[in-house]
Amino acid sequence: MTNGLENVVAAETVLSDVDGQAGRLIIRGRSLDELAGRASFEDVVALLLEGFVDGLPADLPAALGRARAEVFAEVSALDAGLLARSPIEAMRALLARLADDEDAATALRLIAAPAVFTAAVVRAQAGHAPMAPDPALSHAADVLRMLRGAPASEPEARALDAYLVTVCDHGLNASTFAARAVASTRAGLTSAVLAGLGALKGPLHGGAPGPIIGMLDEIGAPENARPWIEAQLDQGERLMGFGHRVYKVRDPRADALKAAVRQLGARHGRLEFAEAVEAAALAVLKDRKPDRALQTNVEFYTALLLEALAFPPDAFTCVFAMGRVAGWIAHAREQALGGRLIRPQSVYVGPRPRRAA
Ligand code: COA
Repeated sequence: MTNGLENVVAAETVLSDVDGQAGRLIIRGRSLDELAGRASFEDVVALLLEGFVDGLPADLPAALGRARAEVFAEVSALDAGLLARSPIEAMRALLARLADDEDAATALRLIAAPAVFTAAVVRAQAGHAPMAPDPALSHAADVLRMLRGAPASEPEARALDAYLVTVCDHGLNASTFAARAVASTRAGLTSAVLAGLGALKGPLHGGAPGPIIGMLDEIGAPENARPWIEAQLDQGERLMGFGHRVYKVRDPRADALKAAVRQLGARHGRLEFAEAVEAAALAVLKDRKPDRALQTNVEFYTALLLEALAFPPDAFTCVFAMGRVAGWIAHAREQALGGRLIRPQSVYVGPRPRRAA
């Protein structure tokens, strides 16, 4: 049996390829370096969904804007009970209100939903009224505007756009696998996206970037990095933002995001401090696990970028979902159109019933 299904091939896909040895990510024939910072999120949504969702509107940015306006109606269901939960739990609950279908309108509403609901939840938790979408803006610019209640600068919108593109799809990661398993039952796109969200929430997958800010804050100064990291590992903790099941060299998404943070201009000295922590972490991990090749993953610089864009750390996973939802939908449709029901086997290792004497 393969622990964690490592190296098990569970799907054929034309959507993305993660080359762990070369440190390369390909999305529908285009390398991430070609896309991040150049293509918009709306461009990659069209790239991913083409051929999998019938009747996609030619003007996708306008259609996605309309979808944001449509799903905003669900925000009225936010109540005190939901607002007492974490942002991802509240956002997930609102998303569960959407109808389960397979058409283009459902797909676009599901892509709009994490953005609209997260902004509304974060604002409401801070005591502000949710802000209605502006369908005329780009998705990234509108997310920041809805979050803050005021327009974002052009470089900020570009940086968020680069982030959403960078995380839009990534082979058969845990949340995409969960989405495909649900889609293989023909349950509908909303159910598949909810499965993806549930898997993304965990700290070993999309839940890592929030705690990275906690780690940087606790370390406080470069000279504390090594002792702090050693103490964490002594307690059997994992360092968030390092290691990956597939990448055994540097995660290419980490570099794309570091470039975005640099362009944006993070808080004075924050990037240099994070680089010092990163260097200390890599050195300690190399000493302690020399045979593991543990490198920086996407979450480390995600944390810095989303902090610079003024997202609260407990909403970072929601922002990851805003990008990855495009990949979940494309994979769900690919699975539903071409795949059989996903139904693997388990090996029973429990006791057998006693035979009657
Ligand atoms: N900190 C400390 N030790 C780590 C580690 C980390 N970030 N990542 C892996 N390891 C250690 C494990 O403890 C384990 O050690 P052991 O064999 O002595 O028990 C070994 O390395 C497992 O390595 P590997 O097989 O490469 O990891 P995996 O495929 O099982 O797990 C992750 C991959 C991503 C779950 C893992 O690296 C991790 O937990 N990282 C931290 C969370 C994170 O950043 N998640 C975001 C991923 S994009």
